[in-house]
Amino acid sequence: MTPLKGLILSGGKGTRLRPITHTSAKQLVPVANRPVLFYGIDAMAKAGIEEIGIIIAPETGEEIKEVAGDGSAFGVKITYILQDEPAGLAHAVLTAEPFLKDSPFVMYLGDNLLQGGIDDLVAAFRSNEPDALILLTPVPDPEHFGVAELDGDRVVALAEKPPEPKTNLALVGVYMFTPLIHDAARAIEPSARGELEITDAIQHLVDTDKRVEPHVVQGWWKDTGRLDDMLEANRLILDRFERRVDGELIDSQVEGRVVIEAGATLTRSTVRGPAIIGAGANLTDCYIGPYTAIGEDCVVEKAEVEHSILLTGSSVHDLDGRMESSLLGRNVHIRRSSGQPRAFRFMVGDNSDIGIL
Ligand code: G1P
Repeated sequence: MTPLKGLILSGGKGTRLRPITHTSAKQLVPVANRPVLFYGIDAMAKAGIEEIGIIIAPETGEEIKEVAGDGSAFGVKITYILQDEPAGLAHAVLTAEPFLKDSPFVMYLGDNLLQGGIDDLVAAFRSNEPDALILLTPVPDPEHFGVAELDGDRVVALAEKPPEPKTNLALVGVYMFTPLIHDAARAIEPSARGELEITDAIQHLVDTDKRVEPHVVQGWWKDTGRLDDMLEANRLILDRFERRVDGELIDSQVEGRVVIEAGATLTRSTVRGPAIIGAGANLTDCYIGPYTAIGEDCVVEKAEVEHSILLTGSSVHDLDGRMESSLLGRNVHIRRSSGQPRAFRFMVGDNSDIGIL
């Protein structure tokens, strides 16, 4: 049997996660202190895929290469493929054709997280031998996704972000394809947003009587494109944690499922899990509440932080209220001065969202 290859799409602009994604790729935003992208690579490695192509964009490609490397840390071989314009997911497949050649492959959108991994899907693809296999899940807001219409277990129609969706079945960002998808991607025209949509390429397979098999996802799935989704993905991953305390605790309490990485120091602080505190973080006189991921080398002092994600090198000092449901980028510093009267002083990038609650 021809070995399956993997294709991970890690281009895109990440507009919905700005300003974080002004300076960093959306696929590198961490969930429970690991880049989202790593969960996709792990899932492929676990399903026995050895060769993975990662599609990168000119703006963020170098950073992704640096972080994911040659794949040896995951037990796979990674080849980077530059897509020089954001011309759509089907365009990405065509860009990867010289790498994929005539192999069947799994395509995984680099900002997606799938709880159950892909082992079962790969097995179904192998045994049923459809021309393509798509994953679906019911969502409350299908107009934001590709949407499928089924007749029994047959896909009859697909639409990309239709204003009036006919069903609530969203296309999950994980697909299995035979090489037929290349001709389908060549046959379609750009959509209204000017992109070659993978949804249209799959519709072309349906229109030309190819067998597209639908699978409804068991377990959760997250497209981490937006803040609320990031926070929820963080919650879901932290929920699977086992307790591990390798850092140093000085007059501090750690309750429940908490990971404290080696090199982190807690002084007169409480952490209530599920939570993770990254290596080199320094927490003093603070409370860290459930569903929080504190990145490497962060500093939190005299503050309460809950249900939040802090990226590497950020700090929070002297807050008199609780910081919650927040995402801080790298090296963000938040501090309240002790003097009266109170004033607010901000230096914040485009598209930021600040709540004074
Ligand atoms: C893409 C696909 C869409 C799919 C979604 C899943 O949308 O075009 O069909 O439902 O991923 O994450 P995007 O996130 O690129 O807007």
